[in-house]
Amino acid sequence: MIDIIRQRRSIRKFTEQPVEDAKIKLLQEAALRSPASKSANAWEFIFVQDKKLIQSLAAAKPHGSKLLESAPLAVVVMADDSKTEAWVEDCSVATIFLQLTAQSLGLGNCWVQIRGRHHDDEKTAGDFVREQLAIPANQKVLSIVAIGYPAQERKTVATEDLQWQKIHQNRF
Ligand SMILES: Cc1cc2nc3c(=O)[nH]c(=O)nc-3n(C[C@H](O)[C@H](O)[C@H](O)COP(=O)(O)O)c2cc1C
Repeated sequence: MIDIIRQRRSIRKFTEQPVEDAKIKLLQEAALRSPASKSANAWEFIFVQDKKLIQSLAAAKPHGSKLLESAPLAVVVMADDSKTEAWVEDCSVATIFLQLTAQSLGLGNCWVQIRGRHHDDEKTAGDFVREQLAIPANQKVLSIVAIGYPAQERKTVATEDLQWQKIHQNRF
């Protein structure tokens, strides 16, 4: 696991190679195995492979979602926020489970934030995504994970360059 964490960087450019069905199945399993507060498991996931739909998701925000354009797979992470007050945490855990599993399968990936972001002056990014994918109103979209084979190389951060000053012992 530490090697997967060391190697992970956000990848925003992908090759055209599709993600194999067997790998998609493993990503789905990982999402469903992510822990949730009080085992509420209020999350839902949409695995989007339709190119046109992915193109429309890439326009969810004015900045920071365009990277979806080259992704062969986009996983939309959402939850019914009336089922648990910890839906943000639960969806965040599921998002990172998807990212680390993708990394372990040799797939590049990037978190695209949707919650709290705007599509334009009138519409939230969440409402825009809801319209594209026919998501019911009770579901709140937290993120979209862009996944695919990397078309860019990114340097990993050396262990000695980490912000070790952020680690405290016993008291702040
Ligand atoms: C909560 C969260 C939201 C993020 N949202 C976006 C986003 O909308 N668009 C994007 O390109 N990257 C997004 N990222 C990726 C971060 O920009 C990236 O993780 C950070 O710059 C560190 O780089 P690294 O992932 O390569 O280590 C997000 C990451 C997190 C954890």
